[in-house]
Amino acid sequence: MPAGAAVLDLATGSGRNALYFAAHGHPVTAVDIDLSRLLEAPNVERLQADLENGSPWPLAGRTFGGAIVTKYLHRPLMPDLLSAIEPGGVLLYETFMDGNQRFGRPSRPEYLLKDGELLELVRGKFSVIAYEARLISEPTMAMVQRIAARRL
Ligand SMILES: C[S@@+](CC[C@H](N)C(=O)[O-])C[C@H]1O[C@@H](n2cnc3c(N)ncnc32)[C@H](O)[C@@H]1O
Repeated sequence: MPAGAAVLDLATGSGRNALYFAAHGHPVTAVDIDLSRLLEAPNVERLQADLENGSPWPLAGRTFGGAIVTKYLHRPLMPDLLSAIEPGGVLLYETFMDGNQRFGRPSRPEYLLKDGELLELVRGKFSVIAYEARLISEPTMAMVQRIAARRL
């Protein structure tokens, strides 16, 4: 993540990523429909919003030096998410992929990335820094895909 860049943490949950970046000098905007598990912290803007169900993108007109999304997938958000990252900004995305059905949830196709999907998502718009699609064993067995990519 570029030093000091404003970071968007989409579907922040308990804010484990938001709090990490805030602690490392980034102003963070943490978005979730339920912020009850996110502790108040300096440098963290809390934005309670429904990202689904036809709700409008809650960050219209705003851009960030980086964005992180983990363990969350709602494909209709992708165009707005990518557009919210400034040129030179970094996208970090990690979530479950096809094959995770063997290990439990999520198992529904709408929550599982297809093979190569994150690469396809950024193609032509971002430069890929790192990409993995693999089985992990910690904290539990799961099939995940993860990408770090810089906006062109
Ligand atoms: C599995 S958690 C991941 C949390 C965090 N990114 C992490 O990796 O620890 C998924 C998050 O998506 C949020 N979420 C689910 N549906 C949502 C919606 N419609 N709008 C906004 N957030 C939603 C949940 O509240 C939950 O915090």
